[in-house]
Amino acid sequence: MSEGSTAESARGTADGSTTDACIVIFGASGDLTARKLLPALFHLWVDGYLSDRSPIVGAARRAKTDEEFRNEIFDNLKLISRSGAVDAAKWAEFSKRMFYRQLDLSRPEEFPAFGESLTELERAAGIANKRVFYMATTPDLFVPTIESLSQAKLIPGRNSEQVLRVVFEKPFGRDLDSARELGANLGRMLREDQIYRIDHYLGKETVQNLLLFRFGNAIFEPLFNRTHVDHVQITVAEAQGMEHGRGGYYDNSGALRDVLQNHVLQLLALVAMEAPSSFRGKEIRDEKVKVLDALAPAANSIDKWAVRGQYTSSLINGKQAAGYLQEDRIPPESRTETFAAMEVRIDNWRWAGVPFYLRTGKRMPRRVSEIAIQFKLPPLHLFKTVECEGDICELVEARPNQLVFRIQPSESISLTCSAKRPGMQYQIHPVNLDFAFDEGFKQLALPEAYERLLLDVLRGDSTLFMRNDELDAAWRLVTPVLNAWEGSPDRPEEYAAGTWGPAGSERLLASAGRKWRLP
Ligand code: BG6
Repeated sequence: MSEGSTAESARGTADGSTTDACIVIFGASGDLTARKLLPALFHLWVDGYLSDRSPIVGAARRAKTDEEFRNEIFDNLKLISRSGAVDAAKWAEFSKRMFYRQLDLSRPEEFPAFGESLTELERAAGIANKRVFYMATTPDLFVPTIESLSQAKLIPGRNSEQVLRVVFEKPFGRDLDSARELGANLGRMLREDQIYRIDHYLGKETVQNLLLFRFGNAIFEPLFNRTHVDHVQITVAEAQGMEHGRGGYYDNSGALRDVLQNHVLQLLALVAMEAPSSFRGKEIRDEKVKVLDALAPAANSIDKWAVRGQYTSSLINGKQAAGYLQEDRIPPESRTETFAAMEVRIDNWRWAGVPFYLRTGKRMPRRVSEIAIQFKLPPLHLFKTVECEGDICELVEARPNQLVFRIQPSESISLTCSAKRPGMQYQIHPVNLDFAFDEGFKQLALPEAYERLLLDVLRGDSTLFMRNDELDAAWRLVTPVLNAWEGSPDRPEEYAAGTWGPAGSERLLASAGRKWRLP
């Protein structure tokens, strides 16, 4: 690859080191490796961010040659490529550093030889002292694998000069107790600064923009508080049902654990946190955890602040979509929720009394993730509000200002305001001031979340990863809800596939005279 000036500067990292490292992916036969991790590493290399020397080693149980591994990943890359075409010459150049090693993670006796093989690869590549282990495995293998690595002396001691960073994919526990147990077990073998807990939402460009928009502008921040904000809605909706082969995992998890506990609460933390004193990982995560610590249910009994639903079969665009219970690998009696909504408060000076409404679900009308901040109405209604089609206008209720961060798709920021409708009367009409990322930054593609996150691991920047105390606070909020739902004989409320969730979700807001937005 050419060593242009961009590539040169990109390879320099914040801590002054290079991205030279031996990258090991445990669970290399899985979907995540083929669909996200290796494509992200390839794109990082193509864009000049990844060192030319770093060996990338996939480890999994099945026997496979390096060549077979490379070909499998290449085939997949062609399938998912953004442009539909992959530069075969670049791939050939990149994949020379990809290796496959057969390793059964449940057999500690296999780890010493595996370690030797890593050292050999590193020696051949001229790399030393920096490893990244990516745990793309099921969570039951986290602790045994780290134990085996530790026994095989593959985890450097406290005073060692060797750098090791271990990346973990969610789920981190099933509830507060199991998350704490997992944290304690890993903590016996790894330091917190060696642990990188991925929440891929934090790698999304528009999620990072929340911080830059809030703290890079002076005009909005003074309005983000209980004096001006009526309420906040956070939606992570998906149109898809169960992806192929995912039913087993999902049925054991449900919408609350799968998305709300992590992605949605991370969005909440970013939109509600105080300004950090500097833009460094520790300071940002300190502020996030304060918000999560201050989270509280909006009511006493769980059914007054948390709602669950499960989708049923329905016609979507003329086609019969399966209900959750008819999906592959879902037990016919399953009570797992595919939709979760809740109303929470943040008991701190800035947000006391402001409701935060959160919702996520599968098989909703469209895929959309957004945060909508609804401001209070002006104190006096001096004007009538109308909505018009051509010359025909209808009087409508006064519309509050809304600031909407669209995380995906059609990434944008939009502010709804009132403006005078041209004519002989004083009538106001809602208008939108919109900023769309693809128009504003035409030349710049939004990078994939995993590209950013993997680069940050290599750079040693943990800002966009979850710290143990953040996780703990998130589990503290949702665990009583999980316990109540799992302990109850009731079924989740039904909603037809292709709708915005069960009636209970509307009631959550209606009791205070509010409504969900229709994104
Ligand atoms: C994952 C969940 O964490 O996030 C999936 O396990 C969900 O169930 C996915 O589909 C949503 O991510 P994105 O980036 O497609 O919004």
